[in-house]
Amino acid sequence: MFDSDSAADSGLFDPESPVTPEYVESDGDIEAGLRPKSLADFIGQPRVREQLQLVLRGALQRGATPDHVLLSGPPGLGKTSMAMIIAGELGSALRITSGPALERAGDLAAMLSNLVEGDVLFIDEIHRMARPAEEMLYLAMEDFRVDVVVGKGPGATSIPLDIAPFTLVGATTRSGALTGPLRDRFGFTGHMDFYEPVELQQILERSARILGIRIESDAATEIAGRSRGTPRIANRLLRRVRDYAEVRADGVVTRAVARAALSVYDVDDRGLDRLDRAVLGALVRGFGGGPVGVSTLAVAVGEEATTVEEVCEPFLVRAGLVARTPRGRVATATAWEHLGLVPPPDLVFGSIDVRGHETQGSPGQAV
Ligand SMILES: Nc1ncnc2c1ncn2[C@@H]1O[C@H](COP(=O)(O)OP(=O)(O)OP(=O)(O)O)[C@@H](O)[C@H]1O
Ligand SMILES: [Mg+2]
Repeated sequence: MFDSDSAADSGLFDPESPVTPEYVESDGDIEAGLRPKSLADFIGQPRVREQLQLVLRGALQRGATPDHVLLSGPPGLGKTSMAMIIAGELGSALRITSGPALERAGDLAAMLSNLVEGDVLFIDEIHRMARPAEEMLYLAMEDFRVDVVVGKGPGATSIPLDIAPFTLVGATTRSGALTGPLRDRFGFTGHMDFYEPVELQQILERSARILGIRIESDAATEIAGRSRGTPRIANRLLRRVRDYAEVRADGVVTRAVARAALSVYDVDDRGLDRLDRAVLGALVRGFGGGPVGVSTLAVAVGEEATTVEEVCEPFLVRAGLVARTPRGRVATATAWEHLGLVPPPDLVFGSIDVRGHETQGSPGQAV
């Protein structure tokens, strides 16, 4: 990809970094083959899985269509996979569309009126649906009815049309961006959380089986630790490691092979990429660990403030490396240690767990 020097000049930010949680083109069709096919096959998210199982089984026993389901959570955690599983568990057909595709209410009306009883309608990125379509959806979700407007201007009339009872599954990475009325019409909301390393390890071992990759279990642990709690990243790193194992080793993914491969791709042992490390390095080495404002940090690494704030910072905070304080960003002791440095003795930011909750020290407090 970096076939000229100009790529290096354009900065450290790489939208196709191996640890980006978003789908990138090179993920290709492999993702589809690695999706879990049933609730039993789905690793992790025990709460959502158990709750959904009750919702689905209850509806099946009553012979009714289940409540509408909203799946929320960061990219790459399995929302689309879960939507497909819901249809599979119900033995129903899945119709797929997305918020941005439903620009006009007519687009949604066409989709809704073609549904067959019991169908599952999946609307991805449901927070990006246009307002008129959203309003049409309210009635459809509540009464299985749409009002189709015929004609234009003062002569326009609206014709109510019954639609088949269906289950809507909405997915969103930004549940906060959903309007109240839409959110209220979902009977069940499942919030997907980042995965634990042991869950990612199981996912990696399952993916390796499907792809016919021989992987040792400590290699799976190694890759899991660099996957940022995200199955999509885990599967992507596995594919890169496989290439390395086939080209530079005997095809077997050992821990040493995994480590060597991921260092080629600049993914370090906590899953940081080059930009993350540059930001952390600037914070620790350039500003003595902070506090420093995010725009100052951005200038130091030659990137846009929004890139640092939206692309790097959320993970650095979640990984317990950076804390946000009222006076700016601060490096934690873990960050100093990660860079191979000894944290200053007066540092109050001790450990912060992987979900970003502080377990020691308090923001902005100097000792
Ligand atoms: N629990 C899981 N077990 C195994 N693989 C998983 C699991 N969750 C996700 N994956 C894998 O991660 C990939 C991404 O999952 P999916 O597309 O369902 O995420 P998403 O939440 O819909 O992401 P986005 O917000 O980008 O649409 C899938 O191809 C699947 O292979
Ligand atoms: Mg998806």
